[in-house]
Amino acid sequence: MDKIVIAGGKPLKGEVMISGAKNAALPILAATLLTPGLHVLTNVPNLADIRTAKKLLANLGVQFTDLADGLQVDSTGLVSWEAPYDLVKTMRAAVLVLGPLVARLGKARVSLPGGCAIGARPINLHLKGLEEMGVRVALAHGYVEASVKRLEGAEIILDFPTVTGTENLLMAATLARGRTIIRNAAQEPEVSDLAKFLRAMGARIEGIGTDVLIIDGVRELQPASHRIMPDRIEAGTYLAAAAITRGEVTIRQAPVEHLTAVIDKFLETGLKLKVEKDTIHVRPGGALVGVDIKTMPYPGFPTDMQAQFMATMSLARGVSIITETIFEKRFMHVSELRRLGADIVVSGNQAVVRGTKTLQGAPVMATDLRASASLVLAGLGAQGQTEVHRVYHLDRGYERLEQKLSALGANIWREKA
Ligand code: EPU
Repeated sequence: MDKIVIAGGKPLKGEVMISGAKNAALPILAATLLTPGLHVLTNVPNLADIRTAKKLLANLGVQFTDLADGLQVDSTGLVSWEAPYDLVKTMRAAVLVLGPLVARLGKARVSLPGGCAIGARPINLHLKGLEEMGVRVALAHGYVEASVKRLEGAEIILDFPTVTGTENLLMAATLARGRTIIRNAAQEPEVSDLAKFLRAMGARIEGIGTDVLIIDGVRELQPASHRIMPDRIEAGTYLAAAAITRGEVTIRQAPVEHLTAVIDKFLETGLKLKVEKDTIHVRPGGALVGVDIKTMPYPGFPTDMQAQFMATMSLARGVSIITETIFEKRFMHVSELRRLGADIVVSGNQAVVRGTKTLQGAPVMATDLRASASLVLAGLGAQGQTEVHRVYHLDRGYERLEQKLSALGANIWREKA
C-alpha cells in the first residue's frame, strides 16, 4: 500500500487553490438521479469518493462524459435501484441514492452501512423521515428495502440535524405530493449547495441555509447545470498547514463565508491572517497559543476540522481542550499524534492537548480521512521524517494533496508499495 513521506520542519510558502467540495459533489451527483436527462456539473473534485459515487451511479444506469471543464451526467435510463454492499461499505455517502431513487422509481434497495472508524453512524433518521412521507421501509439481509406509490409531503422534525439525512429527505421531498417541512434541518453549506442545484432543476424550496426547509413537491424536474462550491474543509486544512509550519500561504478560492468558526479560532490562537473576498492570506508570526474548541453542527466548529486543529494545537503554547460532540469515536488520530511526541490525554469526548516545543517524525497509520490529514499536518510541523501509511483514506477527500503541498515548498512525496 502507498505511503506518504514528509521531511518536516519547513515553513510553507506560496499559493494554493481550493478544489470543489467533496461533500457537496456527492449529494449533487445523487440528485441527478431524480430526473432523466443531461446534467452538467463543474468544479467536481477528482477524488476516490467521487470515483466511487460514479461507479455507484453507473451501476444504476447513469452515464458520464468528461467535458473540458466539467462532467456531463446522463441520468436518462436507469436500469437498477440498488446500492450494493461493496460500494456502500467503501463510502457511506452511497446512502444518498435512497431519497432520489424512491422519489423517481418508487423503490430502492440500499445496503445498510455498518459502523465506521469514527462512530456507529446509523441512518435511522433518514428512514424515519422517509416513513413519514409514506415510504414502506423493511430491513432484509443487510439491506434497506424502500417502496412507495407516491411520496406524500410531511412535517418532519429531525432529532439531530443530520447532514446526509437532511439531504436524502430534501431530495425525496422535491417530487412528493404537497408540502414537506423539515425542521431541525442541517444548515451545512453543502446542504444549501444541493438545494441550489435542486432549485435549478425546478424544485420549489424555501428556507435554504436555515434549519427549516420548506419544499413544495413538483410533478417533475428538469436536468440542470451547477458549479460545485469550494471545499471549506480543504481550505481549513491548508489554513492549519500554514499555521503549524508558521508559513506564509495564500489560500485562493476559499469559501470564506462558510469558514467563520474556523477562522475565528485560528485568529484566537494568534495566527496572523487576512481575509479578502475568497482569499485568505496567512502571514508568518510568533508562537500560537492553545485555544479550546467544541465541534458543533454548522455554523459551529466543524467536526471535519477537529483532527487538523488538534495537530496544530499540539505545537502551540499552553493547553487546548478539544470537545467532540458529533461523533463518538473521532479521536483515533490521538494515539498516532502521540507517536510523534504530542502530549494529548483523552477522557470521554474531550482531549486535553498540552502544546510541546517540537514533534519528531515517525511512521504513523491513517485511520480515517480527517485523521490522516492531521497526521500529514503534524508531519509537516515535525522534525525529521514522517511516514503516513494507508493513504487511501487521504485520497478519498483531498485532491492532489502532495502536489499542492509540494508547490508550497513542503518536502512531501508518495512511495508506492
Ligand atoms: N446520526 C444518527 N442517525 C442518523 C443520522 C445521523 O444518529 O440517521 C448521528 C450520527 O451517528 C452522528 C451524527 O448524527 O453521530 C451526525 O451525523 P451526520 O448524519 O450529520 O453525518 P453524515 O451525514 O453521515 C456528513 C459528512 C461527514 C461529516 C458529517 C458531520 C458527507 C458525505 N459526510 O456525514 O463528512 O463529518 O456530515 O458534519 O456529507 C468527511 O468528509 O470526512 C466526513 C466524515
